[in-house]
This record gives sequence, structure tokens and C-alpha cells, in this order.
Amino acid sequence: MKSVLGLTVNGRAREDAVADNSLLIDYLREHVGLTGTKMGCDGGECGACTVLIDGAARLSCITLAHGCAGRHVETVEGLAVDGNLSPVQRAFHETLGAQCGYCTPGMIMAAEGLLRRDPDPDANAIRAALGSNICRCTGYVKIIEAVRQAAAP
Ligand code: FES
Ligand code: FES
Repeated sequence: MKSVLGLTVNGRAREDAVADNSLLIDYLREHVGLTGTKMGCDGGECGACTVLIDGAARLSCITLAHGCAGRHVETVEGLAVDGNLSPVQRAFHETLGAQCGYCTPGMIMAAEGLLRRDPDPDANAIRAALGSNICRCTGYVKIIEAVRQAAAP
């Protein structure tokens, strides 16, 4: 059964007819067409599907789309402004914090959520904030470096 879902996605108010049991990741990728958010484990284990809900990092693979009614959802596509990478995106690029890139949207959104609540996190705070995000390529050192660079004034 479908019902109308009203929410904001990357700053744009939307109303869509969405199945009551639709997951947020499926709504974003298949309905809204924002495929930057990745499905990894499909079970709340890898962090690839991380988005921001009202500014806080959340796993979209275990979140019902209708649970976001009236809320503000942000995906990796919403970070760049006028084609310019956000500070976190630029830092991942410059520090080689992305290799295959599959985990990167989730890492970037988790980092973005961290920096909004803690603009100057140390390495331990970064590790804790990204602790639910798995990367099979980088060994995490460059990712932590990227977040530190993004936080630097
Ligand atoms: Fe959501 Fe892995 S796809 S945590
Ligand atoms: Fe490949 Fe992280 S860059 S999984």
C-alpha cells in the first residue's frame, strides 16, 4: 500500500506516493533518482548507505522512507554548491581518501555529520564517528586524514 510522503531532500520539498514499507535508500535511489547513496550490506553493517537526517548521520538501509516524513534528508549529491565540491568532498579527493569509491558517499556523509556537531574533531573522534563505515581499500589512514583536512580552518 502506498501513501503520500512529504519531506525535504537536499533542500527541496517533495511529496511522493511511496509504499508504506519502502526503505529510505530505495526511495532515494529509485524514486528520487539519487544513486550516490550506495547499498553495501543491506543490513546495517557497512555504512555505505549513510545519509543525513535532520543533520545527523543515519543508515538509509534500515530506515523507513515514511519515517522521514517532515524531516530534512541530505545525500552526497546535496553537498556540492554550484558545481564546487564541499570541503569534505574536496578533502577526500585531495588526500586520496577514496580508492574504489564505493564506501565514499557514506564516509563523506558520516564525516559531514561529525563536523557539523564537532568542527574540530581529533583522530579518536573521527574514528568513533566513522566506526560503522567499512572500507576495504584504503586502510582508513587517508580517510581520517581527509576529515582532519576538511576540519582545518
Ligand atoms: Fe546500509 Fe550497509 S547498506 S549499512
Ligand atoms: Fe573502496 Fe572504501 S575506497 S571500499
